[in-house]
Amino acid sequence: MYPTGFYRDKNGELNVQGIKINTLTAKYGTPLFVYDTGLMKERYEVFLNTVKNVKGNIHYAVKANDSVNIIKFFGDLGAGADIVSIGEFHKCVAAGIASNKIIFSGVGKDKDEIEIALKNKILQFNIESKEELYDIYEIAKKLKISANICLRINPDIAPQTHKKISTGEKETKFGIDSEEVISIYKKLHELDYMNPVGLGVHIGSQIFDFSFFHRAYSNLKDVADNLKKSGYIVPTLDLGGGIGIYYEKNKKPNFDNYKKIISELFLNSDYKLSFEPGRSLVGEAGVLITKVIRNKTNKDKNFIVVDAAMNNLIRPTLYDAYHEVEPVKKKSGLERIVDIVGPICETGDYLALNRKFIEVKCNDLLTIRTTGAYSSVMKSNYNSRIDAVEILIHNGRPYQMKEIETIHDIILKEKIIDFHQ
Ligand code: LLP
Repeated sequence: MYPTGFYRDKNGELNVQGIKINTLTAKYGTPLFVYDTGLMKERYEVFLNTVKNVKGNIHYAVKANDSVNIIKFFGDLGAGADIVSIGEFHKCVAAGIASNKIIFSGVGKDKDEIEIALKNKILQFNIESKEELYDIYEIAKKLKISANICLRINPDIAPQTHKKISTGEKETKFGIDSEEVISIYKKLHELDYMNPVGLGVHIGSQIFDFSFFHRAYSNLKDVADNLKKSGYIVPTLDLGGGIGIYYEKNKKPNFDNYKKIISELFLNSDYKLSFEPGRSLVGEAGVLITKVIRNKTNKDKNFIVVDAAMNNLIRPTLYDAYHEVEPVKKKSGLERIVDIVGPICETGDYLALNRKFIEVKCNDLLTIRTTGAYSSVMKSNYNSRIDAVEILIHNGRPYQMKEIETIHDIILKEKIIDFHQ
C-alpha cells in the first residue's frame, strides 16, 4: 500500500500511488495537473465521519473542480452536488449525479437556467434575493412545476478570510437579511408551486476560525427555530462550505473542531442538514507540475521562469495566495531568494514571490502543491496558451481526464472575416 497523496520515495523523487511524477511528465509534458483519488476518498470519508452524528448530506461544491471525472468520483462515493450554473448542472448529469441530489446556489440564476433546473426537478434552489424568488415563482407557475425553496441568510459576519472570498457580510451581494428572510419564508406558504424546504448560509471560503461558523449556524438555527415556533415547517438547513485547508504546513483540515460545532448545535435537533464542501475535499489532492525554462538575474533580483503561468493558476495573483513550490526531485545546494514567474506578459504573472529556493537549472521540474481546488477550473487561454493536461491517478493507474485543444484547434474555431469584401 502506498501513502495517500504526493510523497517522496527513498530517492527523494515525488510519487503518487507508486507512480513517479517524472514518468508522467515524460509522457504528458508540462505544465501538468496530477490528482490523487486516494486523498480525495480519504477527505470525503473524514467529512462523512464529521457529519455522521447529525442527519447530514454532502453536496460537493462543483465550482472547486468541475472536471466530470472529479464530480463522478464524489458522486460514486455517494455525494450530491452544489452548483452555481446550468453548465455545472450538465456536468453533474454527465457525471451521473441524480437531479434530486443537486442544490442550485448563486445570485445570478437566469430565467433559462431556472427553467431547465425546474424541468429536471433538482433538489432545491438556494435563493439569494426576493427578486430571484419572484422569477422562480413566475416560471414555476408557467410550467406548473413546484420548486423547492431554501432561503440563504446573510448573517453579516466577516470570517477573516481574503475579502474576495468572504461572502457573509451585508456589503456583499450574497444572501438575504435575516429579518427579511422570516417574512419571505412565511409569505412563500401563500404561493402555489412554491415549496419552502428550509434556510441556508455560506459565509465564505478558506475559514480557519470556526467560531465564525458557530455564529453563522447559531444565527441560522435561531431564525429557523423562530419560524417553527410560529408554526412553519423548516425541514432542512444548508450549512454551505468554507473549511480552510493548509497551503503551507503539511496539516489536515480541522474536521474535528468542525464536528464539535456541528454536534453542539445540531446533535439533538431534527433538522436535516446539507453541507457543501469544495476545497477541503479536493484541494490537497492536486499538484501542478511545471518545468524551469530558465533562471534570470537582474542586478540583485533572482527569477525562476517556469512554463506554468497565471492562466493555469491564478490564485497567487488574484488572492495573494501562497502555494508551496518545491523541486520534484529533492535537491541539495545553495538557496537564494527568488520570484517564481510564468511567461505571461504581466507583472502579476507569478506563482511565488520572495521564496527561499534551492538553485535549479533549465528543464528541472517543480511541484506547485495544493492545486486540486480553484486552480485548473479557473484557467484561461490568455496569451494564446493552451490548457495544461490533467491526469487522474486511480488504483495505481494514470488516466488523462480530457482532450486538450491544440492551438490549431483553437484557431479553427475562429470565424475568419474577409475585410475586403
Ligand atoms: N457553497 C457556496 C454557496 C459557495 O459559494 C462555495 C464557494 C462553496 C459552497 C464551497 O466552499 P469551499 O468549501 O470550497 O470553501 N476561488 C476562490 C474560492 C471561491 C469560493 C467560492 N464559493 C479561491 O481560489 O480561494
